[in-house]
Amino acid sequence: MKEFDVLVVGELNVDVILDNIQGFPEIGKEIIADELTITLGSSSAIFASNLSSLGNKVAFAGKIGNDSFAKLVKESLQNKKVDTTHVISSPQYSTGVTMVMNYDMDRANVTFPGAMEHMTVEEVTDAILNKAKHLHVSSIFLQTSLKKDVVQLFKRAKDLGLTTSMDPQWDPSENWDLQLQDLLPHIDVFLPNATEFIHITKSMDVNSGIEKIKSFCNTIVVKDGENGAHLWENNEFKTAPAFLNEEVADCIGAGDSFDAGFISEYIKGKAYEHCMEVGNITGAINTTASGGTAAFENFETIKSIAKKRFSYQF
Ligand SMILES: Nc1ncnc2c1ncn2[C@@H]1O[C@H](COP(=O)(O)OP(=O)(O)OP(=O)(O)O)[C@@H](O)[C@H]1O
Ligand SMILES: [Mg+2]
Repeated sequence: MKEFDVLVVGELNVDVILDNIQGFPEIGKEIIADELTITLGSSSAIFASNLSSLGNKVAFAGKIGNDSFAKLVKESLQNKKVDTTHVISSPQYSTGVTMVMNYDMDRANVTFPGAMEHMTVEEVTDAILNKAKHLHVSSIFLQTSLKKDVVQLFKRAKDLGLTTSMDPQWDPSENWDLQLQDLLPHIDVFLPNATEFIHITKSMDVNSGIEKIKSFCNTIVVKDGENGAHLWENNEFKTAPAFLNEEVADCIGAGDSFDAGFISEYIKGKAYEHCMEVGNITGAINTTASGGTAAFENFETIKSIAKKRFSYQF
C-alpha cells in the first residue's frame, strides 16, 4: 500500500491581486487600488488542492523560501489536506510571488519565481517517489533547475513503477524547448492546452503536432477551452465536448481542474472516455467561481455544482 495516490512536483507562489485599480501604472507616478487579495497561487497548487478535494491522497514536492509567504503557501495546502512534508523551505531564496493587476476580465501579471527555480530532481528522491502511485509534474518552464534533468525524473518514476503525467503550462521565455523524443516515452499522459501543444511541437495545428510525436508518445490530452478536449490514444484521435458554462465567473485554473478530474479517474484505472468526461466537468465547475479552487471546497460541493449547473451526476 502506498501512502499517497499522487505526488505533485511543481511550482509554488503567492498571488498578490490588486482590484479596482484607478488607472494604469506609470513610471514616476502612484495610483490607488481599492481591493487587495493575498492568496496561494500557482497551477500546481490548484491541481493538488482540487485533486485532494476530489477525494485523493495528495503530496506536494516543491521549493519555497523561509518567509511569511512560505507560511501562507504551506498552510493553504494543508487546509486542503495536501501533504507538505516534501515542500522544501530554503532560507537562501524568497518564496515566488505573482503580482496580478486586474482590469475587468483582463489582467497584467508580473512573476518573481524565487525559490521555485532552484528545485532540483535530486531533491525528489527515490524514497519520495516510492511513497506514491502516480507522479504529476506541472509548469516545467517555470522550474528551470528541475527542467534540466526532468527526463531523468520521469525515467526514475517509471522504473519505480509509478504512472506519470505532465501539464507543461506556458513558457514565459517562449522558446518551448522540451526534448520531446527523450521525455514523452516516460510520460503516460501529457496534458498541455492547444496553444501550448502547438508551440511545443512547433506545428501549425493540433493534428500536425500529433503526427510529429505519435511514433514515440503515449496518451496525449489537449485541452481546448470551450471546445472541450482532444484525446490521442491507441492511434485514435477523439474530441470530448465541454459542459458549456454560459455564465463564466473566470477561467483561472480551468486547465488545472481539468487535469485534477482526469487524473483522479485515470489512477483508478477508468476508461479514457470517462477520464475525459470527468476532466471536462471539473474544468467547467472551475469556471463557476472566481479563481482556481473556490468551486472545489469538498467533494459534496463539487457534486452539488455538477448537478445544479450541468445536470451531471458523479
Ligand atoms: N466556458 C467554458 N465552459 C465550460 N468548460 C470550460 C469553459 N472553458 C474551459 N472549460 C473547461 O476547462 C478545460 C481547460 O480549459 P483551457 O483549455 O482553458 O485550459 P488551460 O488553458 O490549460 O487553462 P489554465 O489557464 O488553467 O492553464 C477545457 O478543456 C474545458 O473542459
Ligand atoms: Mg493550463
